[in-house]
Parts: sequence; structure tokens; C-alpha cells
Amino acid sequence: MISENFMGWENPGSALITGSSSGIGAEFARQLAQQGFDLILVARRKGKLDALSKTLQEKYSINVEVLVADLSKISDNEQVISRINEINNLDILINNAGFGILDNFLQIERMKHVEMINVHFTSPVMLCHATIPGMTKRKRGVIINTSSIFAINKDSSIIMYTATKSAVAIFSELLKVKVKGTGIYIQALCPGFTYSEFHDTDTMSGFQRDWYQPEQWMKAEEVVSLSLDAVKSKSVIFIPGERNKESGMINRKKNLSKYLNCEWL
Ligand SMILES: NC(=O)c1ccc[n+]([C@@H]2O[C@H](COP(=O)([O-])OP(=O)(O)OC[C@H]3O[C@@H](n4cnc5c(N)ncnc54)[C@H](OP(=O)(O)O)[C@@H]3O)[C@@H](O)[C@H]2O)c1
Repeated sequence: MISENFMGWENPGSALITGSSSGIGAEFARQLAQQGFDLILVARRKGKLDALSKTLQEKYSINVEVLVADLSKISDNEQVISRINEINNLDILINNAGFGILDNFLQIERMKHVEMINVHFTSPVMLCHATIPGMTKRKRGVIINTSSIFAINKDSSIIMYTATKSAVAIFSELLKVKVKGTGIYIQALCPGFTYSEFHDTDTMSGFQRDWYQPEQWMKAEEVVSLSLDAVKSKSVIFIPGERNKESGMINRKKNLSKYLNCEWL
């Protein structure tokens, strides 16, 4: 059954979600489908996207399109943009694709760093650039860029992850200033540890979930519903979960006060 959508819009349009073959992205797809949005699902694993597409079309009678793309490649991002340019009701863009690397900066090959920069930062920048003109014209839109709590609680043991997730959070904050008055809402979603496939990939090999207490983990369902509920809030940075929020806000204040004390300010 279709439920009321989180924006209270009468005619929900389409939502494009990157990284929707699993985890947080697949959950965004489920919750937005339930709210009556048509979907464009983007990721590399076609089988997973097709299976999710079939389930959601059958359950909610919405249209779901699958775009197979490797977002570390500029050419694949351009192909997604070609499709964006053809859609005349793109209400929601969720830049969510991402991956982690559990390794030392110098031990990781250079091109893997470039891949991470492209998936976490270049792709959201390109897709926002392509999407905002249409949303501005229609005077409505929501952009959620999935960052991470590590954008706030900086961790030098995962340099590129922290750097790219910080970049997308800052980009989102600055973009909000630019789109003021256009009817577009922007959020940088900063989850903490979330159950998904994130920690099962080759690049996270060796990671064990029980290194962290069960109460430090959240379910993707919770992260996504809190994120959608918070879209209209004033702050661009959104940290789901009280525990994450507590640690994040303390560190954000510390970081800000560090900058505020800078001599060059
Ligand atoms: N889980 C956590 O603890 C956590 C915490 C903070 C932030 N996050 C962020 O949340 C986002 C979603 O992650 P998740 O936790 O849901 O993990 P996940 O289940 O592993 O999902 C990651 C998604 O990104 C896609 N992806 C990865 N590389 C891609 C590429 N080169 N091109 C296109 N798509 C790509 C994957 O699809 P394919 O493999 O099919 O391409 C998958 O759909 C990520 O940005 C992650 O950094 C996660």
C-alpha cells in the first residue's frame, strides 16, 4: 500500500538512487517506493538491481528503471546524466554509492584512491550539477548525499574515506547556500556503523563487526527513515541516532572551535 510521502507532495515524481543494489541505498529505494515515487536504481550489480526492481514494481505498482554504472568512471557518470536529462520529474537525487578500505594509505594502490574520490565526490558533484537546473525550474527537489560520521569524527587511519566523505559534506553545506530560495532541500547524511554489505567487501577484508558494541550499530531502515524525516531541518549535516549524534556533535564543536581560533580567520 502506498503511504503519504515525506514531503507531503501530491504527485510524487521520480527518485534516482546511486548505490541502491544493497544496504542503505536499497532501503532508500524501498521506503521511497512505498511512498509512491518512481525509481531509477544505479549501481554495478545488475542482478541485485533487477531483483529489487521486480519486487518493488510488483508490490507498489510504480515504475522502476535499472541503470548499470560504475561511478568511479567519468564516462558512466556521463551516461547517468544523459538519462537524467531525459527525465522531466526528477524530484529526488540520492548520491549514496560508496565503499570502505581497511588499509594503510601508502599500501593502497594509487588508482584505488582515485576510484574512491570519484565514487564519493566526483559522481555526487556531477549528478548534482546535472539535476539542480531541472529541480530549480520545477521549484522542488531533495538531494541527499550520503557522507559519514567520519566526516565529523575525523580518523587518520582511514585517510581517503575521511577526506572524501568530508568533501561531500562540505560541498553539500555550500550547495545549500547556492540553492537558497529555489525550493530544493539538501542533506549530507552522516551515518555511524550501519548493518549493510559495506563491511563485507574485499577492500574491508579483516573487519569484524564485533570490534564495536551492538549499541553502536544501526539498521539501514532506521537510518533511512530518520534521514527522510530530517530533510526539512535547518542543518544540512544530519547524523542519525542519538549515540552517533552525541559523539558527532561534540567533535563538530571541537573542530569548529579549532577553526574559529585560527589566526587566518
Ligand atoms: N555501513 C556503514 O557503516 C556506513 C557508515 C557511514 C556511511 N556509509 C556510507 O553509506 C553508503 C552506502 O553504503 P552501505 O553501508 O549501504 O554499504 P553497501 O551495502 O556496501 O552499499 C554500497 C553501495 O554502493 C555501490 N557502489 C560501490 N562502488 C560503486 C561504484 N564504483 N559504482 C557504482 N556503485 C557503487 C554498491 O553497489 P555495486 O557493488 O552493485 O556497484 C552498493 O549498492 C556509502 O556511501 C557508505 O560510505 C556506510
